[in-house]
Order: sequence, then structure tokens, then C-alpha cells
Amino acid sequence: MERKDAPLLGIESSCDETAAAILAADGTILAERVLSQIADHAAFGGVVPEIAARAHLAALNALVRDALHEAGLCFADLGAIAATAGPGLIGGLLVGTGYAKGAAIAAGLPYLAINHLEAHALTARLPGLAATQPAFPYLLLLLSGGHSQCVAVEGVGRYRLLGTSLDDAVGEAFDKSAKVLGLPYPGGPALEALAREGDATAIALPRPLLRREGCDFSFSGLKTAVAQAVAAAPPGALARPLAANIAASFQAAVTDILADRLTHALALLPGANAIVVAGGVAANTAIRAHLGAVAAAHDLPLIAPPQRLCTDNAVMVAWAGLERRAHGLLDDLAAPCRPRWPLAELAR
Ligand code: KG4
Ligand code: ZN
Repeated sequence: MERKDAPLLGIESSCDETAAAILAADGTILAERVLSQIADHAAFGGVVPEIAARAHLAALNALVRDALHEAGLCFADLGAIAATAGPGLIGGLLVGTGYAKGAAIAAGLPYLAINHLEAHALTARLPGLAATQPAFPYLLLLLSGGHSQCVAVEGVGRYRLLGTSLDDAVGEAFDKSAKVLGLPYPGGPALEALAREGDATAIALPRPLLRREGCDFSFSGLKTAVAQAVAAAPPGALARPLAANIAASFQAAVTDILADRLTHALALLPGANAIVVAGGVAANTAIRAHLGAVAAAHDLPLIAPPQRLCTDNAVMVAWAGLERRAHGLLDDLAAPCRPRWPLAELAR
């Protein structure tokens, strides 16, 4: 039975984090759990889909039970169950949505199939996260391992794509550049840490599409330039000071590109009430600081969720579930998983 005042369970399993969270109907976080699979994939230098799916399957039930225990609830106390249904790796999506549907049937609860990108997009509206909850429309800069997008967030389920990556996503550029620098997977946080030791002006790197019309992104040329800078280094192990200079120069190039694209995106959404950054790369301190300056120059607040809510988590899935439930947007148990699921296709 649907009870709109009851808490909602959210499940995330689209990539390499297994996560569960329980939010009260007003958005208060009652419990949150994230289990990273980094150790399972590290030896392969990236996420292995089959290993990810099996790890989700092994971990999910205990994780949900833990979250329920922490919240002092059982399934019968919930009002709905939401799970990421895409985009992402099909094996993990099937594990998470299959679990959610099974629990929904057993407990007689409604089910919500959540778009992972919408979950990132709406996180900034989580009560208490920003000084004031951003009103629609706002500009979303989605910066993750699979996506770089400028999105006009016009309402729950209403998204307009203003610009997107023409080649590699920004997180992918971080991960691939980190790999050629010999850093461990996942590369983004490791590269950020190394960049702190380096000189951002040491290596001249390209800034593709800078000052170009619109707000599309391109990072593959920058990634190639990093590989060339590493290849030009003296033979043998890359000296740490040089690696740090390359990392710092790469991060500065990315930051310049993002600031430029953000400025162009704002021109396409003159009524924006706020700028929101989301996705794993939004956890990067240097990038957050730089984008904050751009926002201030436009007299707009920059809302960047705390780092644990930028990278993949289930709080964002549960929150998107609450927002959708408030609009009566429940899903049928026959709702499929969608490995590819662009935000624009959520239009209602
Ligand atoms: O949103 P997310 O957790 O998963 C996807 O939906 O893709 O983003 C993961 C991406 C990875 O590419 C990772 O290297 C990057 O976010 N990332 C970072 C940082 N933390 C995570 N990139 C730069 N700096 C960071 N501190
Ligand atoms: Zn994500």
C-alpha cells in the first residue's frame, strides 16, 4: 500500500558502488550505506561488468538489512522502494531493480525506477543541503565517469540538454590520464592528490572547444596530449615531480574548459536560479572552487553536494524517488532496466 508519509528505501547498483539509503518522507536521511568495489576491480584497471554484477548480488541484501536496522525499521514500515534502473551496466541494474521489485512485491509497496542522472540532478534539492533549496529552473553541470553535460533542470522529470561531451566524458579523461601517469584506479581522486604537488603552468596542454559557441565538451585531445607529455619524458619510471606537473597542468586545463563551458551554458539559460554541480568529478576541490568563482561572477549560488553525495550513492536515488512520488510518478513492476537512458527521454 502506498503511504506518502512513510520512509522510502533507495538502491544504487549501476556501476561499482553498491548502496542503500532510507530517507524519511521529508528527506531526512535515516540511514545510508555505500560499499565500494574498488578493491574488486583495481587489478584490472577499470570496472569489469561481470565482477561488478556478482559483487552487487553478494552485498546488496546485507547492505539493505544494515540500513533498515540503523533506521530502526522493517520493510513493512516503508512507503515505497526506488532503485536505479539506468543508465549503467546491465548486470548491476538487474540486481538492484530485481531486489527492489521483489521486496516491493513481498511488502506490498510501490516501486520507482530511477534514472541515475536524474538522481544526480536532483540531489542539490535535498533539504538542508543548500542554504535554500534551488528552485527550477537551474543549470546542472553533470560531471561523472560516463557523462559531461550541461542540463537545464526545469522540473522533476523535465530536463533539457544544453551541451554534452562529443567524445570522452570528463571523469573518463581523469581516469585515462591518471592511468598513463601510473596512478591507481580510480584515477580522479589520485590525480587530484598528485596535482597538489605540481605546477599547473609547467606543461602547455590544449583546451579543446574553449570559447567555441554552445556548451559541448571535448576531452580526448587533452587526454592524448597528456599521453604525449608522458611519452616525451626520459625513459624509465616517470619522475614524481614531472608526473605532478603533468597532473596539475591537466587539472588546470579541465578547470578552464569547465569554467568556459559553464559561462556559455548560462547564456543559454538566462532564467537560471542556481548552478548545481553533480557527479563524481564534482568532488574535485579545485574544480569546485573555480566553478564557485564563475557562479559568484554571475551572482548565482553554486550548489555542490558534499563529496560523498557527488560520487555514486543511494541517498540521491531515494531523494529522486521522493520527488517523483510527490508527483505521483510511480512505476509499473514491468518497468525495464535501461543501460542507455538519456535524461531528455524522461520528459512527461
Ligand atoms: O558519478 P560517479 O561516481 O560515477 C558515474 O556515474 O560515472 O563518477 C565517477 C568518476 C570517475 O571517473 C572518477 O575518477 C571521478 O568521478 N572522480 C574524480 C574525483 N572523484 C571521483 N575526478 C576528479 N577529482 C576527484 N576528486
Ligand atoms: Zn554517477
